Amino acid sequence: MYDLVRSTLFNIDAERAHRLATAAARAAQMTRVNRLLEGTFEFDDIRLDQSIWGIDFANPVGLAAGFDKNAALVPFWATLGFGYAEVGSVSAQPSRGNPRPRAFRLPTDEALINRMGLNNKGAHKISRRLRRLKDRRRIPIGVNLAKTHDPGVMGDAAVEDFRASFELMAPHADYVALNISCPNTREGKTFEEPDALASLLDAVMHQREDSAPEVPVLLKLSPPLSDRIVFDSAVEAAVEIGLDRGIEGFIASNTASDREGLSADDEYLDAIGAGGLSGRPLEARSTHLVRYLYRLTGGAVPIIGVGGVFSAEDAYRKICAGASLVQVYTGLVYRGPGLVRDIKRGLVDLLERDGFGSIEEAVGTERD
Ligand code: FNR
Repeated sequence: MYDLVRSTLFNIDAERAHRLATAAARAAQMTRVNRLLEGTFEFDDIRLDQSIWGIDFANPVGLAAGFDKNAALVPFWATLGFGYAEVGSVSAQPSRGNPRPRAFRLPTDEALINRMGLNNKGAHKISRRLRRLKDRRRIPIGVNLAKTHDPGVMGDAAVEDFRASFELMAPHADYVALNISCPNTREGKTFEEPDALASLLDAVMHQREDSAPEVPVLLKLSPPLSDRIVFDSAVEAAVEIGLDRGIEGFIASNTASDREGLSADDEYLDAIGAGGLSGRPLEARSTHLVRYLYRLTGGAVPIIGVGGVFSAEDAYRKICAGASLVQVYTGLVYRGPGLVRDIKRGLVDLLERDGFGSIEEAVGTERD
């Protein structure tokens, strides 16, 4: 069935297709169709259940940031069977993002390239929406924060920008992810640089004491250049500074700025231009970052694995490398909404095959 929908959607511009799918989901969320869909996508198993940061996750499959930037579909994500969803990136000020076109498909690589530029309705509006939806949340909702997409907002102003969005959004979040790795800001600099990260975390963690002392704060990192890297000074610094400031988890990883591992021809890639690469080509690299982080932290804090998850096997590799939770974005575009149920079913089979009684038992068990 999704094959048919997909061939229609893939005939139109990637962003328009996303808007159409979102409009259909919105309509479903407001009607009884939601109940019908729920039956279709239902799959529960106690072995998928985990308590992380004192929060119950009925299954480890989450929606990655960027799909529901404005938290418009919060009730719908539970209908699809997600264990949790991360909304955003939300920034302190609203932004229209970059000019269109800004999202592109690479079907032969099962990948996407996007330079959306952090388009979102801003923390004031989105925090009000999340407050209104409080009673319709059936799964944990993470909020991903990014700096306002304005090259004029830099240095101390950028830290203040993050702090302000944290103040508004954190009280409505089950966890907050700081998107310090977004490659789409025009000045090119990210908060992954150690000095910038230390100032950011000092401000955010100070604000946390006032606005949401219990909320776990996570850092979302860039992918490494390959799946063989044995030392990465930026990752080592992020872990050291993060753990020192009380960070409670890492997300590995964001999209890649490079074009490694693609079969698409250079002319086509040149015509697309700049943007973050996601999907299949990221799978091994993001799994490697999970592995690296797990070893570096000794499993001290939970890791969310994201990048190229298209199947239960992909999700399981991330779990065995050290991820407690996984997320999907590009896989949903290529495989459709049944992907979430398929991953959950497949994970139960894989746990059984390897003699694990729960996801928790499988985390970080990968052997060299
Ligand atoms: C993203 N991603 C993203 N990440 C983030 O932290 N904030 C954001 O606003 C966005 N926006 C966004 C838009 C689009 C169109 C895509 C494809 C991706 C990155 C996303 O959350 C994820 O980290 C990567 O896409 C890798 O996962 P997949 O897509 O390979 O499953």
